[in-house]
Amino acid sequence: MATANNPRKILVTSALPYANGSIHLGHLVEYIQTDIWVRFHKMQGHDVHYVCADDTHGTPIMLRAEKEGITPETLIANVHKEHSADFSEFLVQFDNYYSTNAPENKELSQSIYKKLKAAGKISTKTIEQFYDPVKNMFLPDRFIKGECPKCHAKDQYGDSCEVCGATYNPTELINAYSAVSGAAPVRKETEHYFFKLSECEQFLKDWTRSGTLQGEAANKMGEWFENGLNDWDISRDAPYFGFEIPDAPGKYFYVWLDAPIGYMASFKKLCADKGLNFDEYWAKDSQTELYHFIGKDILYFHALFWPATLEFSEHRKPTQIFAHGFLTVNGEKMSKSRGTFITARSYLDHIKNPEYLRYYYAAKLNSTMEDIDLNLEDFVARVNSDLVGKYINIASRTAGFINKRFDGQLNPSANNAVVAEIKASATAIAEGYAEREYGKALREIMRLADVANGFVAEKAPWVMAKQEGQDAALQETCSDALEMFRLLTLYLKPVLPKLAGEIELFLNIAPLSWGAVASSLSPQHRINAYEHLITRVEGKQIEAMTEANKENLQATPTPVPHSQQRHAEHQQAANAEATEAEYISIDDFTKVDLRIAKIVNAEHVEGAEKLLKLSLDIGEDKPRQVFAGIKSAYDPASLVGRLTVMVANLAPRKMKFGMSEGMVLAASDERGGPYILSPDSGAQAGMRVK
Ligand code: 2FM
Ligand code: ZN
Repeated sequence: MATANNPRKILVTSALPYANGSIHLGHLVEYIQTDIWVRFHKMQGHDVHYVCADDTHGTPIMLRAEKEGITPETLIANVHKEHSADFSEFLVQFDNYYSTNAPENKELSQSIYKKLKAAGKISTKTIEQFYDPVKNMFLPDRFIKGECPKCHAKDQYGDSCEVCGATYNPTELINAYSAVSGAAPVRKETEHYFFKLSECEQFLKDWTRSGTLQGEAANKMGEWFENGLNDWDISRDAPYFGFEIPDAPGKYFYVWLDAPIGYMASFKKLCADKGLNFDEYWAKDSQTELYHFIGKDILYFHALFWPATLEFSEHRKPTQIFAHGFLTVNGEKMSKSRGTFITARSYLDHIKNPEYLRYYYAAKLNSTMEDIDLNLEDFVARVNSDLVGKYINIASRTAGFINKRFDGQLNPSANNAVVAEIKASATAIAEGYAEREYGKALREIMRLADVANGFVAEKAPWVMAKQEGQDAALQETCSDALEMFRLLTLYLKPVLPKLAGEIELFLNIAPLSWGAVASSLSPQHRINAYEHLITRVEGKQIEAMTEANKENLQATPTPVPHSQQRHAEHQQAANAEATEAEYISIDDFTKVDLRIAKIVNAEHVEGAEKLLKLSLDIGEDKPRQVFAGIKSAYDPASLVGRLTVMVANLAPRKMKFGMSEGMVLAASDERGGPYILSPDSGAQAGMRVK
């Protein structure tokens, strides 16, 4: 067991966020979870290094830069600034926050690749892929869209359907088109490089059994082993923003090859800056500890590809991988239309205090891969009741007396039972943090805060202050309460580091380490003036935040898929593109002139399979003639006299059977239809739909 004189050497990482999107509350679960763990271990006196970086390579970033008319380098530099500011304001304290597009990463990726090749673990194979003949590039699955082969929903991605949930190959899509140029993709042969994961099965099985994974993750691995491991395609063809593969011109490392190597690269830079020994942490026989915090959706990369890459390139493997679940907001996936897809910046703009979120997440977090829910009402209640009502209350009810009546001078009792009880919980709380059972740790801390408040309430210093001859008792009570407050501050410091820093100043004490549980505020100690430390969070701040994050559309909620919280390379850009496609602006909407129309006549059209000819009264001099594809569902006579809704300002179209002067709205999908829309009773022909 390491001691303060013999500290453990620990390297910790969080997953690298893509450099093409903003940090949002879903991301922050992981960074806050890791940061608390790191701060706790630093408070314990261990040598902990926490590194991260932007994940900068891949097709989406290349295409986004192109769309914005800037180079990928400029794009990732801008995003790096934005991400760094977000993290720092949420008090996520990396020892180095780097970029995967860095010389250290290029060198490490290429040398690791060469070692894998020398170990016989690289093969090549000619494969057929979709190719955009207009853009002259191969298309990742997510950049191919088309009709779902199962439910026939239009505009689905090449790998899965968001309507019916089916997964398939892009080749199965009906009427596939490139999401980049709109062109029909062609199939083209290309040589790809593979990492022979299929040969790593025995190693991975042994490694999995060595206690590196949570129970649920180990089970997942079991499933993967049962299905058999496929070789991993690690190359992509030019044009690609990434690192070129040595001796393979025009071939680039797939972003997921160099992303985890980015952990090493970021640490390498830290070593250069701080004079640390890189090999001590990464050599095969390293005695140091290595922990990766990740989301459960990227377990495959971290529990299969990554350890195998490390093993066969002669490096150490992770000590443990800690996977967490996804974030839901108010019990549902984050949603742009509900205003619950909230960026880090928007939270800061509206709620201001990052420690409220840190506290709330910590209270919800445990060591499993379960999803965690941010219930916004509960957030307000919990923060106000625990932090303001319980914790800070201890100081706000007692410090004033010490400042005003005793000139800041303390005089605590020699042994207070409540202080002893609080101290006795140090080990249990430390275990909670170390085991990532933060919820458990905070429940214990809040139980102790209740006990401390009970002590203050029972002694009632505000009563003593009004009585003669109670000065000594008043000073002792308030001093003891402040000692309790000091201990609770120490316990909460991994979660609330900024507040703890302010309290250290107020208490006039050195920065609290975990060892300071054993010490106490002495009778000679003088505190500084107490100033207001924290304000309540108001429900209206939450409302303003969700309002500000609502997309400008009144339509049915569009949940943001979990995959958007964090997913493979292609996902985010495709989502960005999807977001644009999913929404129209209010201006777009108001351009459509929707009117209530009365069907004054309906008849079959000679020679038309699907069409009926409708005459529609929309309050104009003469009825409009519209051809509608509703013959399969309606007997024309049954339509006469009915009200429906039409697009009145659609440009007239010349059809085979005559002019069509608008369009009738009707619903249909694989379950049936078309069903023409009817307004509610009371509506009149010619009314505008708004
Ligand atoms: O899923 C993601 O957001 C990836 N950018 C995570 C990479 S983690 C690591 F392996 F680099
Ligand atoms: Zn489908």
